[in-house]
Amino acid sequence: MVQAGVIQSVRRREKYKRRFPLDKNREGDVLIEKGYPPLATGDVQVATHLPEKRGDFMNDETGKTTRILIIYDSGTGNTEKMALAVAEGARKVTTAVIVKRADAATVDDMLEADGIILGSPTYYGLMSANIKKLFDISVKIHGKLSGKVGAAFTSAGGTATGAETTLLSIVEGLLIHGMIVQGRSDNKHYGVACTGPPDEKGITFCRELGERTASLANRLV
Ligand SMILES: Cc1cc2nc3c(=O)[nH]c(=O)nc-3n(C[C@H](O)[C@H](O)[C@H](O)COP(=O)(O)O)c2cc1C
Repeated sequence: MVQAGVIQSVRRREKYKRRFPLDKNREGDVLIEKGYPPLATGDVQVATHLPEKRGDFMNDETGKTTRILIIYDSGTGNTEKMALAVAEGARKVTTAVIVKRADAATVDDMLEADGIILGSPTYYGLMSANIKKLFDISVKIHGKLSGKVGAAFTSAGGTATGAETTLLSIVEGLLIHGMIVQGRSDNKHYGVACTGPPDEKGITFCRELGERTASLANRLV
């Protein structure tokens, strides 16, 4: 039996497709628009570019439009799960949230966003090569990300096995770009780290990271 929620979700997607026809989509993009039902990995709106006109995604509550870009790398899916939870949190307060794999992200995507949240698996205590490659390519736009909001998350194999240094390696890159990174005073000071796949607590921290980062970007847009 088809549930009402599913029909509603399909209708929203059809409406979305009309506004952003498929030929505008770029492979590897995932769009999470405010009002979509909760995400699961197999249940995402594939495609898309950031909206062309800011007004298209006006935030009902604030009247502002903030565009959040979540870029992640993931070998076995753990960081990807975190990325989708971060997106869920961001879309509570933000009108346009895009999730992209690092190998599909471009410097233009970064330029178009108001906030950029980067997620990487912990590899040898540092960000993965795909995320580092993106940083290296971003030298082309060095100085142009200044004043945008940034944040980091990671999935590691253990606790105290390099997750914090990974977060700091990402935060370092964001700061070198002149971006604004909000710390957290009571826990997860540098960003969110999970061990393996995120559990319910980890998911909550990820959602909170997305919401908090988008809220800050909202205030600055
Ligand atoms: C090349 C490589 C290096 C890794 N280095 C670390 C490490 O230094 N510390 C750690 O805790 N886990 C390390 N791991 C484990 C991953 O961080 C962990 O499995 C993580 O959950 C993978 O996330 P993913 O599913 O998004 O790829 C490493 C894994 C790989 C493949």
